[in-house]
Amino acid sequence: METVLSGIRPTGNLHIGNYYGAVTSFVRLQEEYKCFFFIADWHSLTTHPKPEDIRRSTRTILAEYLACGIDPQKSTIYIQSDVKEVLELYLYLNMNAYLGELERVTSFKEKARKQPDNVNAGLLTYPTLMAADILIHRANKVPVGKDQEQNMEMARLYANRFNNKYGKEYFPIPQSFSLVGQGVKIPGLDGSGKMGKSEGNCIYLCEEPSSIRKKVMRAVTDAGPQALNSEKPEVIQNLFTLLSVVSPKETYDYFDEKWNDMTLRYGDLKKQLAEDLINTLAPIRERILDFSSDTERLDRIALEGAEKAHESAAKTIRDVREIIGFRV
Ligand code: TRP
Repeated sequence: METVLSGIRPTGNLHIGNYYGAVTSFVRLQEEYKCFFFIADWHSLTTHPKPEDIRRSTRTILAEYLACGIDPQKSTIYIQSDVKEVLELYLYLNMNAYLGELERVTSFKEKARKQPDNVNAGLLTYPTLMAADILIHRANKVPVGKDQEQNMEMARLYANRFNNKYGKEYFPIPQSFSLVGQGVKIPGLDGSGKMGKSEGNCIYLCEEPSSIRKKVMRAVTDAGPQALNSEKPEVIQNLFTLLSVVSPKETYDYFDEKWNDMTLRYGDLKKQLAEDLINTLAPIRERILDFSSDTERLDRIALEGAEKAHESAAKTIRDVREIIGFRV
């Protein structure tokens, strides 16, 4: 069975863009693959977060993943910093990672520009740590967005380099696994492209109903349909895309017809969209609150995940040490 692995940096709450774009696909992947889902808390250190923020945001993602249906019985869900074998592999990979190629990585150059006072070595070697995350379980497939493509290329480079250096096809070459076509791309509420935390146009999975109503009512629209059966401009199409995800088909068709015959009132559409969003998210939100309220249970789940991950990681490290020439 092929292995799928996905990592997420613990930076805030999951929004519906994450949910429909990726997490619902992860839930399905659990049935077909050996899956590893981990929280990349070491990666978050490149920006020097406070200890209490690390603890809180790690538990938050864990609770939200579980609430969405990532199942610790089917998958291995763990926190990166619990599995120390990753660091050993990180060291070995770093010995064959070259300054020039790491400096050329776009996200490194961007970060270095954004935080000129903190261009640390961890930032430079972010791609080798990510490669270690992937290779430690000898993963075959990694679901990532476009923004991670260059990091994936580096992971493939390091897997190949290791294999070539020791003349062994030890690491499978990890493939990027596009969820496009499987997941739905959720637009933002500000009329821009994608929903994203940094864009500030999100609806979070744990968001309170009153806040959802406010955000939806404030969503950007235009002056209204200008001709019968006209094409919808992007800002309006975005609202319809959201409707198509959370509302029954009849609701979508009802508003679509109103658009076509030019009787649509955006206020009505938004009110309905807000209620359907609230209803769709209600059970997830309830489960998030439930998991979040029991940190002991969360910590226990994390520990069990870490044990499973450790087992897989320790096997790889044993092999790698042997291949390199260390005592096992
Ligand atoms: N770099 C990824 C991101 O910012 C997070 C990540 C860390 C990751 N390690 C990974 C993703 C390994 C996939 C596989 O989104």
